[in-house]
Amino acid sequence: MCGIVGYVGNKDVIPILLEGLHSLEYRGYDSSGIAIHEGKNLSVIKSAGKISKLEELLLKSRNGNGKYCGIGHTRWATHGEPTDNNAHPHFDSDEKIAVVHNGIIRNYLEVKDSLIKKGIKFASDTDTEVIVQLVSSCFKETGSILSAIRQAVVMLEGSYALGIIFKDEPGKIYGVRKESPLVIGVGETENYLASDSPALSQFVDRIIRLGDGEIVELSKEKIELYNFDGKKINKQAQPVEKSKDIMDKKGYKHYLAKEISEQAEVVLHLLNDYLPSPKKSVKLDCLNFSKDFLDNIDRILILACGTAYHAGLVGKHVIENITAKPVEVQLASEFLNTKALLTKKSLVIGISQSGETADTIAAVKKALDTGATLLGITNRPDSALADLAKDHLIISHAGLEVSVCATKTFIAQMTVLYLFALYVAESLGKEDKKIFLLKQELRMVPQLIDQTITRGERYQEQVLKYADKPDFVFIGRGINYPIALEAALKLKELSYIHASGYAAGEMKHGPIAVLDPDVPVVSIVVPGDAYDRVFQNSIEAKARQAPMIAVAVDGDKKVESVFNTVLHIPPIIEILSPFLTVIPMQFLAYYIAEHLGCDIDQPRNLAKSVTVE
Ligand code: F6R
Repeated sequence: MCGIVGYVGNKDVIPILLEGLHSLEYRGYDSSGIAIHEGKNLSVIKSAGKISKLEELLLKSRNGNGKYCGIGHTRWATHGEPTDNNAHPHFDSDEKIAVVHNGIIRNYLEVKDSLIKKGIKFASDTDTEVIVQLVSSCFKETGSILSAIRQAVVMLEGSYALGIIFKDEPGKIYGVRKESPLVIGVGETENYLASDSPALSQFVDRIIRLGDGEIVELSKEKIELYNFDGKKINKQAQPVEKSKDIMDKKGYKHYLAKEISEQAEVVLHLLNDYLPSPKKSVKLDCLNFSKDFLDNIDRILILACGTAYHAGLVGKHVIENITAKPVEVQLASEFLNTKALLTKKSLVIGISQSGETADTIAAVKKALDTGATLLGITNRPDSALADLAKDHLIISHAGLEVSVCATKTFIAQMTVLYLFALYVAESLGKEDKKIFLLKQELRMVPQLIDQTITRGERYQEQVLKYADKPDFVFIGRGINYPIALEAALKLKELSYIHASGYAAGEMKHGPIAVLDPDVPVVSIVVPGDAYDRVFQNSIEAKARQAPMIAVAVDGDKKVESVFNTVLHIPPIIEILSPFLTVIPMQFLAYYIAEHLGCDIDQPRNLAKSVTVE
């Protein structure tokens, strides 16, 4: 993971690096650091903790003037604890070369071993230090920086985007890319480097994306590109997409609360774009499927991670229900370890908010190798997934989600999947009454989400009674089983309380053993096919003295008579209920975490974009 930034030009480098790092903080916030040319010196300043810690350090030690070239890094720890020492940039032993790295060096132990045998001493536990020591060792043999980098990368296995700076070459930065993204920002008498283009859009109008196996040598006037064989290459700069999103909490205490509150608007926006009226067909002009392909699909496979995977599980129910096409959902990271039993008639749906999740991208690439067709669903038009899914791509248009914990982007992914299911059903000529009614009810969802969100304070009062519990169990069935999983994930990541989501019917096959008066069970028990069975499974949990919380529709007396606490939602048909059942779950996690004093928008150990496998 991690974020990289670099600058060379005529401006003070420190504020530019810090601004770039802030834009990249979503890639990790375990530590941050910079390396800058200061006169004849190459200085590294770094600190464990968030970027504000680095800022404090820089305020104390640096005035920012007269330094025009540097690289910066924000870290999500993969190898070695998040300490000052393991923070990037890393120096070689002679402190002549500094490196920042995003990715993972898989053979770092072997390389480290060979360098130790040469007498090189290591100062950190990271895989990154291996890179800088290796480049330094190669430099001693070749005397050429570029050759040293080329020699070193041949020996490295894994994924990496690198920013490299040499003491003896003031005014120069080298960038290297294998798998992990790296983008060059093209300016007038200044140039930039960053892990993504949004980090550069505030500084430049044009960018060049470094390809796999490419190296760039940047000075303020020149951008020289090479492949790993040392051959010069030419690439045209392209315009950078300027984001309209502004980082603003709009009066909310946390981005998370603001983003929860935006969910009705997000769904409404998508419906207005793609389903303006239930009387019309779903309009997804961004898709180019032939009727013949849709007719003959042999398998739909959804690949995603985390919250996006949960959206995929909801999507499976909806697609199967209204198109009768078989759908399977796999964790992208697991798909990588399975036989890809796909054919040219298979449709693979990759879902990723960031569009950069390494597991999802690798899984989608593996699926594409089989000849399957890809549909991408992402919130980021300017992302690896969007690139791979050019022919069939739906942007989920949730707007910028700052909080690491996904809320509005989950609801946006679900909306897109409902729309896609309707699109397939209508393309296949299934324009029956059931489809019309679903479209009609779907158009009502934004209003119902809004009504549910206004109950936030009531939910707060209800859930804080359970804030001291060390363990939670969430149960649901059918289309609300994924919401039980999502609820457990939200609570874990925000409050650090252990929580598990189970298919309600599975409780008696083992998990019920964990229940006691200290383990609240949260049941999603809304009217529909699953109602009676979830209710029955809840009664079984109650018999084990677990405190019982329900998510149920208004006026459900049966639920009210049995459960200790009922988080009410407005009445809704079962197939659309995930849009509402997830909301009290988001509030439950939020209010408990806030009560416990947790870092709501940047929970420990996490990153918004998980760019390592
Ligand atoms: C949880 C969360 C993560 C992401 C997961 C996939 O709140 O945000 O579980 O959903 O890391 O991320 P994307 O959707 O960017 O591929």
